[in-house]
Amino acid sequence: MSGHFDTLIVGGGAAGLMCAITAGRRGKRVLVVEHANRVGKKILMSGGGRCNFTNTGTSPANYLSANPHFCKSALARYTPWHFIEMVERHGIAYHEKELGQQFCDESSKLIVKMLLDECSDAGVRVETSCSIERLSHGESDESRFRLHTTHGNFSAPTLVIASGGLSIPSMGATGFGYDVARQFGHAVLPTRAGLVPLTLSGKHQERLADLSGVAFPVSATCNGTSFSNYLLITHRGISGPSILQISSFWQPGDDLRLDLLPGRDAFEALQQWQSERPAAELKTVLGDVMPKRFAQRLCEHWLPNRPMKQYNAPQLREIAQLLESWALVASGTEGYRTAEVTLGGVDTDELSSTTMQSKRVPGLYFIGEVVDVTGWLGGYNFQWAWASGHAAGNAV
Ligand code: FDA
Repeated sequence: MSGHFDTLIVGGGAAGLMCAITAGRRGKRVLVVEHANRVGKKILMSGGGRCNFTNTGTSPANYLSANPHFCKSALARYTPWHFIEMVERHGIAYHEKELGQQFCDESSKLIVKMLLDECSDAGVRVETSCSIERLSHGESDESRFRLHTTHGNFSAPTLVIASGGLSIPSMGATGFGYDVARQFGHAVLPTRAGLVPLTLSGKHQERLADLSGVAFPVSATCNGTSFSNYLLITHRGISGPSILQISSFWQPGDDLRLDLLPGRDAFEALQQWQSERPAAELKTVLGDVMPKRFAQRLCEHWLPNRPMKQYNAPQLREIAQLLESWALVASGTEGYRTAEVTLGGVDTDELSSTTMQSKRVPGLYFIGEVVDVTGWLGGYNFQWAWASGHAAGNAV
């Protein structure tokens, strides 16, 4: 099998499918090459099977990138409301969970079906289980890019790299996009796992491991950024939304602080408990505002446990200080095996922010997670995939 197209898209994930739909609707002949046995595997597993497909509060401030301005143009031209319009047009029921996060009521499968139906309407050809053996680049404009694949050779004047990041290799993630970028002289900024559980070692791990499954609200701070949400203790460390969020801002050796009484003045709270319940022990009063087992563990290892009336003001201040700024030393992350995203990637300096086209190689585009734009937890990463896919789909 072989064929000539207007555009070849490598990767049938969120960004690649959106790009294909947009280009196909413009009358372009589009081929999506996906090496996995089905498209959209990450969409299927996302949001606990219900796909948090966008966030209505999306703004450029929700993204990490060496150039924080790069994502602005694409996000402004394809907003969460554009995607919601498509979801509604396909009759998919959805709801807001919290903080602007939009989830399917039923299943992520409906989002993949919607994208495939849109592809089919737009005349897009999708080749799954199709592995790329070689990519060549010729002089002639018409067939500038040629993909030599297990399903034959395909050529086109434009090539879109939508092969995603390195997270969850078992779902088809590869470094293909980074290799192509380097092949064409693009800089690739160092990659690392983001939105990922953190591991603990030594005493912290030993003291907390048997509390695995215990969850409570905290405010996690690292490098000047804070996220307030739940923390979950795991066998090997800590997870939960506040930790996944802060993990993208954390690197080995960085100071990580947890406020265990988020939204409260700890010293005032301790004074109040002292006057209201002077005979109660610290672990008992703390156990009323956080999981009892965790309060007890805190008082075994990190705080002196006594009846409240026995503390003087400086001691209460010390306890308040620890409760508001508990230093937890993370030893690492769980890595790409469980990370939701890959930070870093193709440097945006040499890409057009309006079209995603390479400034080095005419006709070459990079979209989605392979680019050095990474969203927070909460639907922002899909919104970037849709928006960058849409930008390139309108340009190819
Ligand atoms: P994506 O990874 O989706 O697609 C890339 C495609 O390229 C894959 O299908 C892959 O198989 C294919 N490919 C790779 N190499 C190839 C090659 N050499 N040849 C051919 N094909 C190749 N985000 C969000 O906003 N809301 C959420 O609820 C979640 N939930 C979530 C859960 C989990 C467990 C993970 C791992 C991730 C999320 N995310 C998320 C993040 C989100 O899934 C991610 O940001 C987008 O899928 C990125 O879209 P892309 O299309 O760029 O890559």
